[in-house]
Amino acid sequence: MYLPENIITNADLMKVMDTSDEWIVERTGIKERRFATRYKDTSTTMGVEAAKIAIERTGITSQDIDFIVFATLSPDYFFPGCGVLTQRMMKMKEVAALDIRNQCSGFVYGLSVADQFIKTGMYKNVLLIASETHSYALDFSTRGRNISVIFGDGAGAVVLQPTTNSNKGILSTHLHSDGSEAELLSMMNPGFHAGRFMSEKKPPIPEKPYGGLFITEDLLEKEDLYPFMDGPAVFKKAVIKLPEVIMEALDKNDLKISDINLLIPHQANLRISQYVQHKMGLRDDQVYNNIQKIGNTTAASVPIALCEAWEDGKIQDGDLICLAAFGSGFTWGSALLKW
Ligand SMILES: CC(C)(COP(=O)(O)OP(=O)(O)OC[C@H]1O[C@@H](n2cnc3c(N)ncnc32)[C@H](O)[C@@H]1OP(=O)(O)O)[C@@H](O)C(=O)NCCC(=O)NCCS
Repeated sequence: MYLPENIITNADLMKVMDTSDEWIVERTGIKERRFATRYKDTSTTMGVEAAKIAIERTGITSQDIDFIVFATLSPDYFFPGCGVLTQRMMKMKEVAALDIRNQCSGFVYGLSVADQFIKTGMYKNVLLIASETHSYALDFSTRGRNISVIFGDGAGAVVLQPTTNSNKGILSTHLHSDGSEAELLSMMNPGFHAGRFMSEKKPPIPEKPYGGLFITEDLLEKEDLYPFMDGPAVFKKAVIKLPEVIMEALDKNDLKISDINLLIPHQANLRISQYVQHKMGLRDDQVYNNIQKIGNTTAASVPIALCEAWEDGKIQDGDLICLAAFGSGFTWGSALLKW
C-alpha cells in the first residue's frame, strides 16, 4: 500500500466548510484521511509505489509482470488509462494493460478478472493496482460536504500468481450490478452524455454544429463538475447487498459465516461495516476496519485494508479471508481467499 503523507483531520475540513468533528465521526466513523500532494502524487504514481512493494514481496521484478489491471475512478487522464502510464513508469515489457472503472468495487472486480486470466493459464504474474486521488476534484465548499468529508486518497496493489496448492488462493469471486439507479452515486460531468439521461440538467446546445458538449460554459458557471451522492439511498442498498454477496460466496464454497477468519469490507462508512457485521453475527475480531484513519479510498480501500491487516499479523497462513465491496453503479462483489 501507499498512503500520501498529508494527514487531513476533521478539524482541517472545518476550516473550509460548515461541518463538525461530531457530525463526521457519528455518521461515518472517520477521524482523518490522507490527501495527495499536488504536482507529486497521482493515481498512477501512488499505484506504482504500492506496486513496487507488492512486486518486491512476491520476489519477482517488474519485468516478470505479464498483465496490469488498474482500478480507479480518478485516473490521471480521461484517456489513456493509468494501466499504460504504470507500464511506462515501471519500464515494463509491452504487456497487456487494462483499466477497470467500477469505483468502490473496482478492486474486487479487478481481482476476479486477474483470477480468470491466471486460472485459464494465460498469464503467470498479474499486477492488480487500485488507486485514488479524490482530493483533487471534490467540492470542499459546504455544498459538497456530504461527500467530501468521506473520501481520502491512497493506493494498494497485489500480485497474483498460479499455485498448485489446492488449499490456497482465490476460491471464488462473485460480481453484480444494478444500473437502475446509476446516477445516485455518480460524477456525470464532464462527460459525453449530452444531457441524454437528464430531465432538467440538459446542457444548452452550443451554437457550433458539432462538439462542445463535453465541458460547457453552463457547467463551469454552475460548478456542476462534482460527484453527486444520495447518501441515505447508498446506505440502504449497501447494507442489503453486502451480506447477500458474502453469503453467496460462502454458499458456493459450502462454508459458514463462522468459517470466516477475517472479513475485509470496502471502507465506505464505518456504520455500513458495523451494520453488516451485526446483521451477519460476526465478532469484532472477524472484521477489519481502518476507515477511521484513512477515509473511503474507493477502489483502493480493500487492498489498503488487506495490506494493513496482513502487516499487523491479523492474517495467518490458511486463514479464510472474505473481501466484499459495494459502490457506485451500483456494482458490488465478493471474493473468498484461502491465504
Ligand atoms: C452520507 C451520510 C453520512 C449522510 O448521513 P445522513 O444521516 O444520511 O445525512 P443526510 O444526507 O440525510 O443529511 C442530514 C443533514 O446533515 C447535513 N450534512 C451533510 N453533510 C454534512 C457534513 N459533512 N457536516 C455537517 N452536516 C452535514 C445535511 O445538509 C442535512 O442537513 P439538513 O437536515 O439540515 O438538510 C450517510 O447517508 C451515509 O453514510 N451514506 C452512505 C454513503 C457512503 O457510504 N458512500 C460511499 C459509498 S461507496
